[in-house]
Amino acid sequence: MYYVFILGTAGSGKTTMTKNLQDYLLDQEMDTAIINLDPAVEHLPYTPDFDVRDYVDAYEVMDNYQLGPNSALIASIDLILTRASEIKSDIDQIEANYVLIDTPGQIELFAYRETGRLISKLIRGNNKALGLFLFDSFLAKEARSFVSLLLLSSSIKFRLELPIINVLNKVDLLTDKELEQILGWGESAENLIDELGKVDEYSLELINLLIESLSSNLIPVSSEKGSGFDELYAEIQRVLAGGEDYL
Ligand code: GTP
Repeated sequence: MYYVFILGTAGSGKTTMTKNLQDYLLDQEMDTAIINLDPAVEHLPYTPDFDVRDYVDAYEVMDNYQLGPNSALIASIDLILTRASEIKSDIDQIEANYVLIDTPGQIELFAYRETGRLISKLIRGNNKALGLFLFDSFLAKEARSFVSLLLLSSSIKFRLELPIINVLNKVDLLTDKELEQILGWGESAENLIDELGKVDEYSLELINLLIESLSSNLIPVSSEKGSGFDELYAEIQRVLAGGEDYL
């Protein structure tokens, strides 16, 4: 059983990717289950096999504890851990080749809080797992935002101790020229630095390190239009076969 965590900034397309990746994997005759870990999501386009809202619902937490939306989300993520053993026994009932995990909209609440890290470990147990980190094309087409997304992806890899595949999502919103440019930035620090213009010594070193440490190229997909999934699936298989070497 393989666990695939779908990660990314708010609105980067995690839920759409979860649904369409499931459809794609089912077409490949892979048994696939979905875990929804977002306690604040209102509508899901798929039927989850496990839904964290059955245990903790951010809107109920908001009402019950008189909290604002952000505090309610933080409290909800932390409350999930108080139900850990029930959640684990539910999740252990799931049988599938691939389990896709749709993570909360606010990535920092999930990845940067100890609770998120513990829940992700609890879910995957000793099984092989990886994360898909979605770059929203709308943000990634600006060079400085692209570097910020690379940093976010690296810090999440460190926090969650998961191999990460960087996925450029929503490529249907890009022109061919924009797509080529973004992919070029991912391949060479020089391309990125050319675009940024003058950068200080610290940024130069940081960018070189970030690009050098990428274990694979950015995978361009449109989760809405269903393009790029063959390449993405091949990369998922490559990373899972490589195991810890890709950490
Ligand atoms: P939160 O959990 O609320 O942060 O969002 P999310 O990351 O789960 O993103 P979601 O799948 O809800 O998508 C956000 C918006 O982006 C929706 O309007 C989607 O229709 C749109 N979207 C997602 N994927 C794509 C894509 O590949 N192309 C385009 N054009 N839009 C997309």
